Amino acid sequence: MKITLTQWEGFRNLKPRRLEWAEGLHLLLGPNGSGKTNILEAFHVLTGWGSLKGERVLDLKSWSDPGRGTFLAAWFTGEEELEVKAGIGSRVITKKGGSSIQSSQLRPLVPSLIFLPNDLSLVEGSPATRRRLLDRLCALLFPVYALRLHEYGRALRQRNAALRQGKNLAATAKVLAPLAAWIWACRLAAADLIRNGLSEAGGLMPPGITVELKRGSRGFEDLLLDFWESLKAFQNQERATGVCPVGPQRDDLVIRYGEREVVRCFSRGYRRRVAVSLLLSSGWAVERKMRRKPVLLLDEVMAELDHEGREKLISVLLKTGWQVFATTAEACTPEWPGRTWSVNAGRIEER
Ligand SMILES: Nc1ncnc2c1ncn2[C@@H]1O[C@H](COP(=O)(O)OP(=O)(O)OP(=O)(O)O)[C@@H](O)[C@H]1O
Ligand SMILES: [Mg+2]
Repeated sequence: MKITLTQWEGFRNLKPRRLEWAEGLHLLLGPNGSGKTNILEAFHVLTGWGSLKGERVLDLKSWSDPGRGTFLAAWFTGEEELEVKAGIGSRVITKKGGSSIQSSQLRPLVPSLIFLPNDLSLVEGSPATRRRLLDRLCALLFPVYALRLHEYGRALRQRNAALRQGKNLAATAKVLAPLAAWIWACRLAAADLIRNGLSEAGGLMPPGITVELKRGSRGFEDLLLDFWESLKAFQNQERATGVCPVGPQRDDLVIRYGEREVVRCFSRGYRRRVAVSLLLSSGWAVERKMRRKPVLLLDEVMAELDHEGREKLISVLLKTGWQVFATTAEACTPEWPGRTWSVNAGRIEER
């Protein structure tokens, strides 16, 4: 899919604007605090995801003119033509062609993938950073995934509370087990797709990188049995620590280069390349499974990549044929082979 037209009003620091976007690569260039990330956030909201920093919805409304309505709109073309509008009040209300649509239904129609500066530390960061990558891909591939993950999180909090209060744990286990098995099945499928996609990152990183889901369990093949057996095996630890040590909340995506973990044998710059390649692989997974080209939102993705790394990234991006919006605070070298937009104090103009 491609974003062909957008409109925003009263959104963060962005001045009201209607803009046409061509396909291909777009670079948003501007000083710190000019509104580059806010533009990506507008696209993020319009493609069915919430605010970037998990803030209150009200923070999306312009501070300088709080009385004004906050409104976003986009027209998408490509595999399908559709119009999306988002009204922002105490919550975000999205509409497709005039009718309300849930964000979980909107996301697969206009699949977007975002890469934030923190994702540069995907390889050496905590397992939670890598689970986030998997969860975002799963939320696109399996529309009820986000809901099931939310239900799982709620049941897990109930179990941990029951543990601390010395209450019976059987009831929460019955709720958790099928949800855990389902989430694991989705994550295994997503990890497989990411692994296959990595081969397409051609040149951005050395060949031979593999990714594998390491489940927070004993690792039995039958996922339901795995949950029950692991719970039994770790019951003493669970009682002693007061937190459930089994389940998707303990999963990790292990990234290896041959026999070694990438985090141990790659330089910082190469770990950055692997991190970007993992996002690109998610994009290929989306294209292959959903038969829709994703829109990529890349925030400061070129930071810390050397000249050669940037060149390779740009050539891989060009090859995908996807629409890409990338931000940078400094002029891009090598030359950007697409449109460049200047962002200044919430105003955006093509250069
Ligand atoms: N609700 C809001 N209303 C008005 N301004 C806001 C709101 N939320 C954030 N801002 C302002 O928007 C400005 C631009 O933020 P943004 O993160 O998009 O900048 P940026 O161009 O990405 O900068 P950097 O290069 O540092 O990442 C910030 O100065 C911030 O204070
Ligand atoms: Mg920014």
